[in-house]
Amino acid sequence: MSNNILKVGVIGCGIIAKIGHLPWYNHSKEANIVALADPDEKKLKKAGKLYNVEKLYTDPNDLIDDPEIDAVSICSPHWAHAQQTVRAADNGKHIICEKPIGTDLNQIDEMIKAVEKNQVIFQTATQKRFSPGFQMIKEDLLEGKLGDVFHASIYWYHFIPDLDIPWIRKSLDFLKKLGIDIEKNMGAWRLTDERAGGGDLMDHVPHYYDLFRFWFGDVATVSAQVRRVYKSRAHEDHGAMLFSFKNCETIAVFERSQNITGRVKGEELGRIHGTKGSYYFDVPHEYNLEPMEIKKFMFSLKNYIVNRKKKIKIKYPKDKWNLSYAREIRSFINQCLGKSNEDVGFPEEWIPTIYDGRAALEGVLATYESSRTNQTIHLPLKSYSPINWKNTVE
Ligand SMILES: NC(=O)c1ccc[n+]([C@@H]2O[C@H](COP(=O)([O-])OP(=O)(O)OC[C@H]3O[C@@H](n4cnc5c(N)ncnc54)[C@H](O)[C@@H]3O)[C@@H](O)[C@H]2O)c1
Repeated sequence: MSNNILKVGVIGCGIIAKIGHLPWYNHSKEANIVALADPDEKKLKKAGKLYNVEKLYTDPNDLIDDPEIDAVSICSPHWAHAQQTVRAADNGKHIICEKPIGTDLNQIDEMIKAVEKNQVIFQTATQKRFSPGFQMIKEDLLEGKLGDVFHASIYWYHFIPDLDIPWIRKSLDFLKKLGIDIEKNMGAWRLTDERAGGGDLMDHVPHYYDLFRFWFGDVATVSAQVRRVYKSRAHEDHGAMLFSFKNCETIAVFERSQNITGRVKGEELGRIHGTKGSYYFDVPHEYNLEPMEIKKFMFSLKNYIVNRKKKIKIKYPKDKWNLSYAREIRSFINQCLGKSNEDVGFPEEWIPTIYDGRAALEGVLATYESSRTNQTIHLPLKSYSPINWKNTVE
């Protein structure tokens, strides 16, 4: 690292690179984006132009082998993460990798070996921990402000219609002929590509599974039912999960869907209930980069009678430098440069590690296994067979 400036390469120039990684390296005085990689030349050139990056690789391995680079952001689809991590670690590069960090626990164990052997930093990109609102909840839980927490529930949905409805398919194909590939631009592979290893839950469970562990500690059991509402999809697109924890009596419920009509950009609502009160939170679509809102309903006789609540809108500074994505990247830069994380205001020991990333995938696979076998799964996960959607009678 020359002059204490981190030289970064970003692998995959799709949605998350543009929202969660590139803008924040670009804003940082302690990092330079020196290279980008994407097999899609159009996306690669567009990102290169936007961020004034000259080294553009269509083969991600060429970026990973580039000796000028100190650290990589892995923003490729799930199935590419394991190979890219092992290669980057073997080249001595620090890594921040998008969730899920892999689709197979054995592969993740190989990633862990490579990271440990080469003593590089690996940060899992589960950015919700860095959200000022979720961090405030963590701190309040530690201080016992909610008393004994007995229940948490998350209700999170988006709406993506069945893309194989004839008029939608016809329109998509027509636009594709004009050079506008909506499916590609919206990352439809997560619902249609077998290599993703799962569908909507592979994509979204890691976020709240990670937050649940952050708040309540290790998960003891997982009970779940998952469904594939639209048969045009390769995997599940809807599910409900129930978690218990090793060291507390909290019950956590997570409901997730891609199929619910409602708010155009979806809805992400949460509740945490303790013996001293409840917090209700409402999180705007993550790509909006807007603050979340928390309402606190604390128990006291006065509050009980007048139903008083304290509403807190978690404010971000105007330049959004205190957003979850920005704080995630700032923390990664600090780790790579060997600096304290005080300027971010987020303790080093809370930064998600490769072991947290592994745990999140274990949670996803336990969800599938529970639904497939109609059993409650006790962690650690001892065996796993993927759901064969082709043979599933629905
Ligand atoms: N943390 C979050 O909030 C969040 C949000 C969205 C996506 N993600 C994760 O980020 C990853 C990427 O998702 P996305 O929404 O940006 O998808 P996307 O389809 O928008 O972008 C992926 C990009 O990777 C490129 N690509 C394909 N194969 C590649 C390979 N082998 N190596 C390098 N690049 C390759 C594609 O051409 C595309 O430009 C996924 O793992 C996803 O789960 C995280």
